[in-house]
Amino acid sequence: MNYSRILGVGSYVPPNVWTNQDLGRLMETSDEWIQQRTGIRQRHWVDLNSETCSSDLAVPAAEKALKAAGVRKEEIDLIIFATLSPDHEFPGTGCFFQEKLGVPGIPALDIRQQCTGFLYGLSIADQFIKTGMYKKILLVGAEVHSKGLERTTHGRDVAVLFGDGAGAAVIGVGEEPRIPKASQIFSTHLHADGRFAKELWVPEPGNAHSGDRLTPERLKDGGHFPKMNGKTVFMHAVKKMPEVLIESLKANEVRLEDVDLFVFHQANLRINEMVAQQLGIPAEKIFNTIDRFGNTTAATIPIGLDEAIQAGKLKPGMLVATAAFGSGFTWASALFRW
Ligand code: ACO
Repeated sequence: MNYSRILGVGSYVPPNVWTNQDLGRLMETSDEWIQQRTGIRQRHWVDLNSETCSSDLAVPAAEKALKAAGVRKEEIDLIIFATLSPDHEFPGTGCFFQEKLGVPGIPALDIRQQCTGFLYGLSIADQFIKTGMYKKILLVGAEVHSKGLERTTHGRDVAVLFGDGAGAAVIGVGEEPRIPKASQIFSTHLHADGRFAKELWVPEPGNAHSGDRLTPERLKDGGHFPKMNGKTVFMHAVKKMPEVLIESLKANEVRLEDVDLFVFHQANLRINEMVAQQLGIPAEKIFNTIDRFGNTTAATIPIGLDEAIQAGKLKPGMLVATAAFGSGFTWASALFRW
């Protein structure tokens, strides 16, 4: 059996920065409220008058990941595209991205697992590499949230949380396991509980209504904007993230203190602080980016890995643990050696 590894990562955020103060021009909110509750100082949003969409942000992120991996785009066997903010209802955004990257013919698979999208994708990539079906897989998490947010006081509980951005990773065959500190993905752990699907969701457009998928009335009611029961999400996140993280450590007989770096999903700094507190993880071992980018959903973990490399915090041979929680509810973890 092959082992897989992450060969390289890359990320991209659009240039426009929206500070918390800038959001105050659109809605009743304050820098103090947002920072205290979430740790977010700013986020990047695409030009709202442009046609820029998730597949556009994914291209530079993927090109950087390919460069970092030393892999040509022609060598890619499969694209896995994770997003909750697709370019269109169908076809999958992976197809639009494939055309923009210029790699026709290879399979493109979209996955819709929201904040755990990258880890679900990593697990799928890991299985394809392990079976020998594919040798090199391009995994992308990309989001343009800004255009889908209710950017008013009515939607402020959700609107202030999300940023636009993309991250990508090239997954390939891992190093020979007998090599000390061989770079490889040890395991991935996936979960979902659909009983909580409507705690964080976008109801429209949808077939779970009588009549048309979208009507002017339901559009007027704002059913196409995300709805969140923030407290319920928070409560479950701080329980499930430590659980799934421990699950990955136990599966590999690794102690928490052996992990060199924790790169968690970035939904709320307070969630990550509570996870760290519960498990006794020292702050210097956690790499957070939420203050600068907000929640970029499927992109947070690859952006985190890329930023950690740039900051000199992630180096070859390090043991890395990741975990994510989000809409669905879905939650997941992965343990790998860089
Ligand atoms: N600015 C100012 N005031 C606000 C804002 C805002 N942006 N948003 C809400 N408020 C107000 C509310 O109206 C409320 O006012 P009231 O007391 O007069 O009714 C007050 O602030 C408190 O609101 P709460 O909802 O109780 O605030 P809470 O402390 O729960 O924090 C938050 C809200 C930050 C959203 C928190 O619940 C949270 O982070 N939840 C988890 C979010 C999360 O992880 N989402 C995952 C998304 S990932 C994915 O899968 C897509």
